[in-house]
Amino acid sequence: MSSADNGTLLRAGGVMHRYGDLTAVNDVSLNVRRGEVFGLLGPNGAGKSTLIGILCGMFAPTAGSVHLGDVPVTPGARSAKQRIGVVPQDIALYEKLSGRQNLRFFGRVYGLGGRRLRERVEAVLDVVGLSDRGNDRAETYSGGMQRRLNLAAGLLHEPELLILDEPTVGVDPQSRNHIFDSVERLNQDKGVTIVYTTHYMEEAERLCDRVGIIDHGKIVALDTPRALIESLGGGVIQIGIDPGQAEQVTEILAALESVQAAGPGPDERLLNIEAESARHALVDVMQAMNAAALEVETVRILEPNLESVFLRYTGRSLRD
Ligand SMILES: Nc1ncnc2c1ncn2[C@@H]1O[C@H](COP(=O)(O)OP(=O)(O)O)[C@@H](O)[C@H]1O
Ligand SMILES: [Mg+2]
Repeated sequence: MSSADNGTLLRAGGVMHRYGDLTAVNDVSLNVRRGEVFGLLGPNGAGKSTLIGILCGMFAPTAGSVHLGDVPVTPGARSAKQRIGVVPQDIALYEKLSGRQNLRFFGRVYGLGGRRLRERVEAVLDVVGLSDRGNDRAETYSGGMQRRLNLAAGLLHEPELLILDEPTVGVDPQSRNHIFDSVERLNQDKGVTIVYTTHYMEEAERLCDRVGIIDHGKIVALDTPRALIESLGGGVIQIGIDPGQAEQVTEILAALESVQAAGPGPDERLLNIEAESARHALVDVMQAMNAAALEVETVRILEPNLESVFLRYTGRSLRD
């Protein structure tokens, strides 16, 4: 088959993974471009960790293939795996060992030794901001610091592709910001290509150049956050009304040309109004309400975000 084009670093084609009867990853094809931060956004159980395990060669897919450049990524392929760093979802550390000792251990697993190992350990401790805690046992670290140490371990062999699986789950805000900063610096200053999974749409919006939205093992949409959001078109106006007038208000507003749909909001005092352009429709809505002598108690324009994109493509909310 044809080789990856110049811009592509990691290529997955037709990847399937089954656990018994359950299809966890369902025919995923995607290209991760060299130098980008690629996000996989989806709720718990969407198949993110399974897909990542396949992308980094931890295990083989039921069907399909993964290539890093022209090199197949398989559990046995050392040359490809040497170029990939993985920060798994579950923290893997030796609690009784210090941060430095943990990193020396993981470095040896990657085949590092001697002076190079010592230099790399210090360099990665610095990247994650743990140099001054490096001699303390890992068991004394907060959950966030343990995660940062895991991130450091994934960087020891200077991978050109770094794969992070939900690195901020259960992490304190300070460590969370540290992880964001590290990811941004590695990408921007060192040119490391990043694959980042999350179920937090704010993270995907902030960090990722492109985002694949994954649900039930399928990529249902893939583009830049901006393009995904713009693909939704308009927006939603939410107005507060007298619940006793809901039916009348809905009828009046749904008839407006600038309004696409009007219907119940999250509770009976709120009405959601969908429009091609929320800002334009707002004027018409207020005029129509005035003309009918109906009161508008509150007004909000809900800006579309990746959460709305997820809702549009899956019919469900990202948060369970
Ligand atoms: N080792 C396993 N054996 C059986 N089912 C699994 C296993 N790992 C994950 N699953 C199932 O596969 C689906 C995808 O899981 P996972 O890849 O962990 O999703 P995510 O990381 O997005 O939460 C889920 O339904 C999960 O319960
Ligand atoms: Mg997972």
